[in-house]
Amino acid sequence: MSDIPKLIKDKLDIVDFLRQYAELKPAGKNFKANCPFHKEKTPSFMVSPERQSWHCFGACNEGGDIIKFLMKYENLEFYDALKILAEKAGVEIQTSGNRDFQANNNLYKVMEAAKEFFQANLTKSDFVRNYLKERGLKEETVQEFELGLAPDGSDVLTRHLLKLGYNIADIEKAGLAVKTERGTYWDRFRSRAIFPIHNHLGKVVAFTGRVLPGNENPNAGKYVNSPETPVFQKSKILYGFHKTKNQIREARLAVVVEGQMDFLMLWQDGVKNAVASSGTALTSEHLIVLRRLADELVLSFDADQAGQLAAERSIDLAGQHDFLVKLLIMEDKSLKDPADAVKSKPGLMADLIKDAKSAMDYYLYRYVRNLPEDLKTKKHNLRIMLSKIKSLSSPIDRSHWLKEVSELVNLEERVLAEEMDALSDSRRVNNEERVLAETPPVKENLSRQELILYRLLGVLLHMRSDLQLIKDHLPYFPDKYVEIYKNVLEPQPAASRPDLNDLMNSISLRFSFENNNFESPVLEKEAQKLLRELKIEHFKERRRALRNLIQECERRGDEEKLESARKEFNKVVQELENS
Ligand code: CTP
Ligand code: MN
Repeated sequence: MSDIPKLIKDKLDIVDFLRQYAELKPAGKNFKANCPFHKEKTPSFMVSPERQSWHCFGACNEGGDIIKFLMKYENLEFYDALKILAEKAGVEIQTSGNRDFQANNNLYKVMEAAKEFFQANLTKSDFVRNYLKERGLKEETVQEFELGLAPDGSDVLTRHLLKLGYNIADIEKAGLAVKTERGTYWDRFRSRAIFPIHNHLGKVVAFTGRVLPGNENPNAGKYVNSPETPVFQKSKILYGFHKTKNQIREARLAVVVEGQMDFLMLWQDGVKNAVASSGTALTSEHLIVLRRLADELVLSFDADQAGQLAAERSIDLAGQHDFLVKLLIMEDKSLKDPADAVKSKPGLMADLIKDAKSAMDYYLYRYVRNLPEDLKTKKHNLRIMLSKIKSLSSPIDRSHWLKEVSELVNLEERVLAEEMDALSDSRRVNNEERVLAETPPVKENLSRQELILYRLLGVLLHMRSDLQLIKDHLPYFPDKYVEIYKNVLEPQPAASRPDLNDLMNSISLRFSFENNNFESPVLEKEAQKLLRELKIEHFKERRRALRNLIQECERRGDEEKLESARKEFNKVVQELENS
């Protein structure tokens, strides 16, 4: 294989390329800019046209060529970054493992052609353009997000694409045509307003089509979506993300809405750090993508039952991904969703986003405020609230929220606590789940690291396999706990370590393996997960410390120490990326 990276670099000028990502200003024979990877006031991002390289002398303290830049910016593997750049440079990558790439490329092309067709078709329909306008969409938004119209008729698009030279297999594979029993092909999207769905690089990978007014048919959904294809996995794609990822990164906050219309109206209203989940509940895959850029989520789902249920499910999942989750509450019950809110009260959403509530405040709002008089509903709602409180790990939190509820509903805390304790776990639990649930009670005010350690201990007590893995992770344990774990792994005579005994008693654990010799894949998996999290916590701690050290060295002008701290910092960042 010829030297593809070199070919690419010969054809693409790094300065031109980086202008899309940063505002480059001339500085001698180089260029400088505020680093696109983090917020800063003084530019520390340098680009050298001569060497065709970039370097951030600030917090990143990292640099490289055009490929490295794209890898870092878009979170891509080397080969994926290469593919994108090769396409831009008009360089063909000829390798044997290249067939998927070609196949996907055909899908992208046919989707792009379909999009253009839908767009052109929209310009011909005053009726649909007016409909979009009435819904509140501006012409420029329609343009920017490339909205279109699927014509009436059974196979107008398919015939158009065939005429352009696309083959029917690709058209079908892209989900644009559906084969009938008679072997003929129908357009999947007919007589619908079309919203292209782009992947994070801005390529069209799917469409969703909304029924037009006057066309509603109870047998067909309001929205029709592309099926999953090799370039479209529903659980991974977030609508609008290609346009908002930078603002999400800057704000470290993402607003999540359900519908395309919600997203577009928010965009128009100046909220540029949103995404839409397209009607599905958030998935772990969505959250992983968002977590790279944001620490905080504001969920703004529809006011209806389905939306609120989706919100509750998302709260737990987002919590598991270590997000700070908040919920947007629309007090005005006449507003059914964010799109509605923007349309009737421009600017309102931005305020509501600022005022978004924590999960517990949201539950309080949803289940306890304005409780109905009828005892049955009242009790039902209260029990839901109490079960949420019960699931809190900290007794202090539990008592705080019990008090809140008590004040709101005018019932004694004692009574509520009694009701709460009586609530059984409605879940059917098997033995393994029971073990997980029975891990030692967690004490208040523990660090995340300690919480993980406690849970790990609980799991470990019931598990005999894979102890080596734990030994391997001991370097990432806080000193105090290394001792405890060593003792668990290779028990010492109790009396010889009175100090340790105290500590172990204080977390109310008795170390006996005798009755618990079962191997369990569930527990093992849990242990692996916890160990990985511990490792990550360890490196995060190191990263925090090093960041402080670097700042201090910068203040003092201690170049030598700065150099070594930065090196160490990079190593830690690398470790975090690899874990
Ligand atoms: N959705 C879908 N299939 C449906 C209904 C909804 O895929 N049958 C998805 C669409 O992506 C839609 C989102 O779920 O945007 C939210 O649904 P809904 O709240 O019904 O859509 P709205 O945006 O409120 O629809 P509209 O305002 O156009 O009536
Ligand atoms: Mn809606």
